This record gives sequence, structure tokens and C-alpha cells, in this order.
Amino acid sequence: MKVKNNSLIRPGTSEYAPLWPLDPDVVYLNHGSFGACPKWILERQDAYRMKLEQEPVRFILREFEPMQQKAREKLAEFTGAHADDVVFVQNATTAVNTVFRSLKFKPGDEILITNHIYPACRRTLEYVCEQTGAVLREACNPFPLDDPEQIAEAILQAVTPKVRIALIDHITAATALVQPVKEIVRELDKRGIDTMVDGAHALGTVPINLDDLGAAYYTGNCHKWLCAPKASAILHIRKDKQKGIVPMVISHAGAHAEPFSERFFWPATFDPSPLLCAPDMVDYVGSLLPGGWTEVMDRNRNLCLEARNILCNVLDVNKPTPDLMVASLATVLLPTPDKIPSSGYKGADPLQTHLFQEYGIEVPVWYWGDPPKRLLRISAQLYNNIEQYRYLGERLSAFYQDEVASLRSQ
Ligand SMILES: Cc1ncc(COP(=O)(O)O)c(C=O)c1O
Repeated sequence: MKVKNNSLIRPGTSEYAPLWPLDPDVVYLNHGSFGACPKWILERQDAYRMKLEQEPVRFILREFEPMQQKAREKLAEFTGAHADDVVFVQNATTAVNTVFRSLKFKPGDEILITNHIYPACRRTLEYVCEQTGAVLREACNPFPLDDPEQIAEAILQAVTPKVRIALIDHITAATALVQPVKEIVRELDKRGIDTMVDGAHALGTVPINLDDLGAAYYTGNCHKWLCAPKASAILHIRKDKQKGIVPMVISHAGAHAEPFSERFFWPATFDPSPLLCAPDMVDYVGSLLPGGWTEVMDRNRNLCLEARNILCNVLDVNKPTPDLMVASLATVLLPTPDKIPSSGYKGADPLQTHLFQEYGIEVPVWYWGDPPKRLLRISAQLYNNIEQYRYLGERLSAFYQDEVASLRSQ
């Protein structure tokens, strides 16, 4: 799909935008979906691949293991964990599959989820239930909401004696809520329930201390907000839960190797460059602003909050959550049309397509909830500038004025 040629001048990007290879004709407001890599790391990834291809046996059999160990140590340091408890997987979805397809469920066991769960993870758990006779128990967390306490309350209300484990997002996908995971993990733990936290969006958007959090299982993507190349994520497993967790690909070390990191060390022949780049990105992005990662996260969050205010004003809607539940991405409510298009997971809402085709704006629009609400999610990364969200606001305002005018004329 191409952006139509039109005379509208694209709004300016930030002073950091030249570090990314992003298409200057596109107003890229969707870092959240797949991340985006700076040019520097793509060159570095090329260098790792070149080194690998110059002597594959030397690289994979002699050099890779200490390099991977260093990478795990760096990511463990960044997330407040012990390197022994951290392994690399391709992505958060793989991590969720790994844990839930390793655990042994009995018919009638319950897996607690929320209505904000990421669809691919829901599909994974549905499959696990199909195979084992376990059932999903869904907490109905409100959105919009005034207080993060409402989330913990809704989750705890859904607990039954049959719940064995919960899958809780650190930051939800469609609704972009930063959830109070520490409190949720602690309260579920008191009731004898383990938690897997899906932190797909958390690394690089909120401070993380996994040892302090104490969740049984945690996954976080490096390829989203750390801006590492695609297919790099971590899976952290608390020491007492490592036995019995088997990687999705069982390779030379076997399913039961000890320590558990050994099982994940070499998932057969693969491209290790994304995971090797992950620690480089911790240093690189952290070096772009004088205050390091703290300043990067604060900058992105403040930009996101300002952008959310602009959009809520333009759309004349309330902010759906308090500011404290926002990190580098935020969702606003759009008027929901009478007829909801069924686009499936590969399709896009007509408004999303319109914004892209007519104005070059890349921003997701989707439906969430029951009854479905139309939502628009913005992301804020270093390359973004507030002018881009003003431009989005103007286009949205024009879209809705045209829509109202066309309804009136019918
Ligand atoms: C909450 C959540 N979980 C999991 C994922 C999946 O991430 P990946 O495609 O890297 O597995 C996403 C992706 O946006 C997400 O938002």
C-alpha cells in the first residue's frame, strides 16, 4: 500500500530522527507494534553476521557462548535480575508458549487472564486448554478507569480455588495501560497463584527490577523499546520454577539440561545477531541523552502524555486513564461506528488505512472490549516530535467533521 502523493507537508521529526532509517514520507507513530532500529545497530548486526559468515564454526562453536553469556549478564543487570535466571528467546509470544506449554495442567485447572490480554497469547492459552482440559478464567478489568487499584481488584475478584497461574500484562497492548504488576504478583502469590508477567512493552519504557518483582515468570521484548533487531526477547524464570520449563525447540542440550539456561543456549542453527545486539542497545540508547535510560523513558512518557492531551482535546473526549498509568504509549477512545468492520488480525480498520494512505500517518486503530470500542494508540520514541501528533489531531478532526457532514447530508 502506498501513501498517495499529496501536497501536505509532513510535520518535523525530532533531532534524533536522523539516527533511524525511517521513511521521511511516513509520520511513524507506531513504535509499539514492532519497534524500529537505529542505523547504528543495523550496521552492528551486519558486523556480527559478517563475523559469523567468515568462519561459521569458529563463531558458533568457539566464540558464541561467552558472547551470549555477556549479553545475558547485561540484560540481567538492566532488568534487576541474576544472569542465571535469564535466557533469550525470539519474542514475548515464544516466551508465553514456552512457559504454558511446559506446565502440566489437569482438567478443570484454571488459567487466569484479563480482557486486555494480547490476542496471540490468548490463542496460545486456548490451545493449552484444548490439549489439557484446563480452562481460561477471564478477569474483566475496566477501561476507561480512574485508579490503578481497580485493576488489582478486578483480577483478585476473578480468583477461584482452581486458578493455578495468571498471565498478566505489564503494559497492555490495545489499551496501553501500565498495570500495577507488583501488587498483583504479591496478592496472587499470597493466594498460592503463580504469575507470568508479559512485559512485551516494558523494557525501555518503565524501570524494571525482576528480583524485586518476584514473579514466577517474566518476559520482555528487546526488539520493541530497546530498539534491538527483531527476534530478541528475554525470558526470566525464578529459580524455584526453572525445573520442567522446556524450550520450544529442544536441541543438543536436551529438555532437562542444568542449569536451565543451558536448555535455551543453542536453539539449533539460528541467527544469533539480534540477541547479541540487545546489550549494545542498552548502551547505545542509554548514551543518547545525558540522563541515560531514565531520561529516555521520561522524555518519551512526557511526549506521549502531551500528545494524548492534544488528541483528547481534538476529539473532545476524556483521558481514559490517569497519567500515572501511561508510559511511552497511550490509547485514546474514538467514536465507535454503528457497523464494526471485520478486518481479522491481518487487516486494518478503514480509519487506519485512510490516515496512512491519505496522510502518511502510521498509527494503529482497532477495536477492543465487549461491546467493542474503537481505539487509537500512539507511541512516542526518541525520533518523534510533538508536531507529528498535532498533525494527527488535525487529520482526525477533519475526518470526523467530514463524517458528521456526510451523515447530516443523508
Ligand atoms: C502485551 C503484548 N504481549 C505480547 C506481544 C507480542 O510480542 P511479540 O510479537 O514480540 O511476541 C505484544 C505485541 O505487541 C504485546 O503488546
